[in-house]
Amino acid sequence: MKKSGTLIIAFVGILVLFAAFIKPTDPVPSNAPKGIPDSVWQVISKCCLDCHATDGNGMARANVDFDKWDSYTPDKQLAKAQDICNELQQGKMPPSKYRKNNPEGVPTESETARVCNWVRQMEK
Ligand code: HEC
Repeated sequence: MKKSGTLIIAFVGILVLFAAFIKPTDPVPSNAPKGIPDSVWQVISKCCLDCHATDGNGMARANVDFDKWDSYTPDKQLAKAQDICNELQQGKMPPSKYRKNNPEGVPTESETARVCNWVRQMEK
């Protein structure tokens, strides 16, 4: 009896540890602009918001500010989105120094493709 109680406690403890462990590796996109789907936002929030959002870099925000995305006109959103896809495909964003210091903030090929597919959808 005593032993099984200990086992249950250990089991619950392991579950809790697991939950804590899994959460940060599976970020749920929050504060997403309405015009950007969650699957794309996941990439942007991981790789771009350090600079391209309210607390970011002034020069970066002058080009693209994701906190202002929803206030951009549809034409501007399309032009920015095309620019974003280009920068990603050419590996220009995030900047090389950032890539070096934040390997986890570098978009993978499939993430780049996901962003560019979204842009192709907008072009239709
Ligand atoms: C370390 C800060 C930083 C990060 C991270 C970053 N950017 Fe930038 N971005 C900048 C700066 C600074 C500029 C403006 C100067 C320049 O063009 O290099 C810029 C410019 C841009 C431009 C305009 C470029 C042009 O010349 O037309 C686009 C588009 C862009 N960024 C997209 C992104 C995307 C998408 C991400 C995420 C994948 C990202 N950036 C991540 C700093 C950053």
